[in-house]
Amino acid sequence: MSAFSRFTPLASALPSTVPFVGPEAIERQSGLLVKARIGANENGFGPAPSVLAAMREQAGDIWKYNDPENHTLKEALAAHLGTAAANIAIGGGIDELLGQIVRLVVEPGAPVVTSLGGYPTFNFHVAGFGGQLVTVPYSNDREDLEGLLDAVKRQNPPLVYFANPDNPMGSWWDAGSIVAFAKALPETTLLILDEAYSETGPAAALPSITSLIDLPNVIRTRTFSKAYGLAGARVGYAISTPGTALAFDKIRNHFGMNRLATVAALAALKDQAYLSEVVANIHAARDRISVIARANGLAPLASATNFVAIDAGRDGAHARAIVDGLMQHGVFIRMPGVAPLNRCIRVSVGPEADLALFEDALPQVLKSLG
Ligand SMILES: Cc1ncc(COP(=O)(O)O)c(C=O)c1O
Repeated sequence: MSAFSRFTPLASALPSTVPFVGPEAIERQSGLLVKARIGANENGFGPAPSVLAAMREQAGDIWKYNDPENHTLKEALAAHLGTAAANIAIGGGIDELLGQIVRLVVEPGAPVVTSLGGYPTFNFHVAGFGGQLVTVPYSNDREDLEGLLDAVKRQNPPLVYFANPDNPMGSWWDAGSIVAFAKALPETTLLILDEAYSETGPAAALPSITSLIDLPNVIRTRTFSKAYGLAGARVGYAISTPGTALAFDKIRNHFGMNRLATVAALAALKDQAYLSEVVANIHAARDRISVIARANGLAPLASATNFVAIDAGRDGAHARAIVDGLMQHGVFIRMPGVAPLNRCIRVSVGPEADLALFEDALPQVLKSLG
């Protein structure tokens, strides 16, 4: 295939892979139809009716660029969180914010610390800006705070990534441990505390906003993709000191946010009653997935997220065979990427109809694998 001959050495050296193969691509490649979409940690319960109504109502304004400062959404988030608008930066999902943060602090060759098997999109951005990943294994299926701190002390990285609650295992740490970790970091190492699942975990796992808001080397990232059911809208936000938040303005795409996506986020934030309902549905679906797993002799891990990692009891090849086997039944799930986490399969919550398909297909797949 002929390609332009003058890509940067960095771009030329990158593998032409993306972090995830999407369900649509799987359908195209396999000719199979996804009937239960419970693999990408989306929220099949969907956004609030009030959100859809707000989007429909304001659809006619789509000819306008969005407010590049996202002032209204920042104000609304600040009021919701009990902080100031200056503490907030808005981006196209956490994924975009992760790329911006890496761009702000990682020079080619710089070490960047994360967990081995942690959220792959972060790694993708680090590779894209030429950083060198330094990985710390999970400990008992949790990210290892002590190991991450040791690696930071050894490597003096500009950046360390930590997700709480965590993807892909669904595990979490208590707020006190996280705050202690953040405070033990050198001032010259920026912590990304990725809280994509902040709404679905126990309150005790979520540090208060005030406990970290004065640390210039901490950025917390959150999203409307999970509990709020707006993954396709692409709205995320970062919480940090005002000075750190301002840095995003140096590099972000001026008109980067879709106008209707921010309308959706604002409406979603207003409808906290619906959020509570959905979070209850998510908790019930987690329990249901765990019951299905146990009924099939598999061991679900405790989860603070909108998915359940299920220990399938053998190795990565076996878990992969289950994932592929389920897809043959139209049940799309995923699994962690590296050992020993990849002994698990990962099933996202969804409406009962989707979980019933999973319940029906799983024993057939396990039987066929012997
Ligand atoms: C830990 C973590 N961070 C970020 C994201 C992506 O969030 P967003 O849709 O806001 O880009 C995910 C999605 O699976 C995630 O698991």
